[in-house]
Amino acid sequence: MSEHPAAVVVLAAGEGTRMKSSIPKVLHEIGGRSLIGHAVQAAAALEPEHLVVVVGHGRDRVTDHLAEIAPQVTTAVQDQQLGTGHAVSCALATLPPLDGVVVVTYGDVPLLAGQTLAELVARHRADGNAATVLTARVTDPTGYGRIVRDSSGGVLGIVEHKDADDSQRGIREINSGIYAFDAAVLRAGLAGLTTHNAQGELYLTDVVGSARTSGGRVGAFETTDAWQTEGVNDRVQLAAMRRELNTRSLQRWMREGVTVVDPATTWVDVTVSLGRDVVLHPGTQLHGATTVAPGAQVGPDTTLVDTEVGEGASIVRTHAVEARIGPEAVVGPFTYLRPGAVLRRRAKAGAFVEIKSSTVGEGSKVPHLSYVGDAEIGSGANIGAATVVVNYDGQAKHRTVIGDQVRVGSDTMLIAPVTVGDGAYTAAGSVITQDVPPGSMAVARARQRNVEGWVERKRAGSPSAEAARRALGRHTDDQEPSQGGPQ
Ligand code: UD1
Ligand code: MG
Repeated sequence: MSEHPAAVVVLAAGEGTRMKSSIPKVLHEIGGRSLIGHAVQAAAALEPEHLVVVVGHGRDRVTDHLAEIAPQVTTAVQDQQLGTGHAVSCALATLPPLDGVVVVTYGDVPLLAGQTLAELVARHRADGNAATVLTARVTDPTGYGRIVRDSSGGVLGIVEHKDADDSQRGIREINSGIYAFDAAVLRAGLAGLTTHNAQGELYLTDVVGSARTSGGRVGAFETTDAWQTEGVNDRVQLAAMRRELNTRSLQRWMREGVTVVDPATTWVDVTVSLGRDVVLHPGTQLHGATTVAPGAQVGPDTTLVDTEVGEGASIVRTHAVEARIGPEAVVGPFTYLRPGAVLRRRAKAGAFVEIKSSTVGEGSKVPHLSYVGDAEIGSGANIGAATVVVNYDGQAKHRTVIGDQVRVGSDTMLIAPVTVGDGAYTAAGSVITQDVPPGSMAVARARQRNVEGWVERKRAGSPSAEAARRALGRHTDDQEPSQGGPQ
């Protein structure tokens, strides 16, 4: 017999009415992964021969999602939700005859760890059980199936809350709904299920009782970590699970050498990876495939989505999506990096700067109030405040090339497509429409003309005219010239 389970069946056909959502319950996300994604991840850790998700409500969307995130998973359709036992039957009907261990879990129990499933299976095997149920002791067992034991502590079976008598309702050991079964016992037990119960459903829980009645050993594997058995039924629970998952992720990272200044306001998806001595300041959110290399500082108040951060970089009050921030680069505060923004080593993107599909070369700086789109900036360049790369002519986007060691003067408009050669300058306030050769100074602005005395003539008596008069040392007729200068 293979050491891996023959199958893991993940039940996910239920409607999730209490979510009050147009999205199937198991597609709601916590920690950057759908609920079903978490369940499948734990199941896959067992490396089963078959991994089947039972789908029903919203099946098309759930199936499409699974094809995207876990193509090794197969789905079984349960048209009508006739109970958890029926759901497992639907799964087995899609599989060849199985031999060995079959594990059953739920699609809406996101904190369950693969390790816990592995321990459940190990206990199931070690004890030679026909069925082993994962249980937990909780303070409020209302609604759960209760584990009924005999006088010597052996598991007799599971009774659903709605079917339980008063003394059974006093039992605080609950059925998580997660089990390991011997495949043959499961098959026989499912074949014998009836709907003679308070809900008129085919209860998977009854297979545990029937396994015992027909002479098999039945066991319970109790976890002290009740979070791992908790399901999501509404958005209040969704938030609680998200918070707990995040707390666990952050604790794991802190143990790996990451400083998290304020765990309460720091959110890190399970898909993110962080290096040693990374510091996450308050209000930091790291999503998707984001990676942060050792020694980088992120935050406060920064959101990074699918963004790569190099060693020792510093990112303050920034929103970045699909950006690559090089080693020792400096970003923020108030910076927006959009897809394709690449900052090379020691580059800088400062306050109120937006960058898209552009590379800022090594040591180059875009310090203040600029938009850079579809541009290639060489190394050691400085882009003056309020420079805009005018990449869009209303119909198409065009590229701009700015060479090494260029000095773009403040408030330059670079009308793409345009190239500014290595070592060139542009004068502040220029509108650059033609290529600038290397080493040239491009001046593209109107010459200044001063109309002297204009304010005195056109704005006579105004505070400006008065200020000008004082500055020019003149006096009006009704006032003696001041001896001591302005007062
Ligand atoms: C079930 C257990 C109960 C256990 C509890 C743990 C049974 C009869 N009862 O109760 O002992 O304490 O889980 O949460 O098994 N599902 C299907 N198809 C169905 C019915 C359910 O796929 O026909 C799926 C649901 O989507 C859900 C899971 O199975 O993911 C559990 O269903 P739910 O109705 O929540 O189970 P409970 O009645 O709460
Ligand atoms: Mg139910």
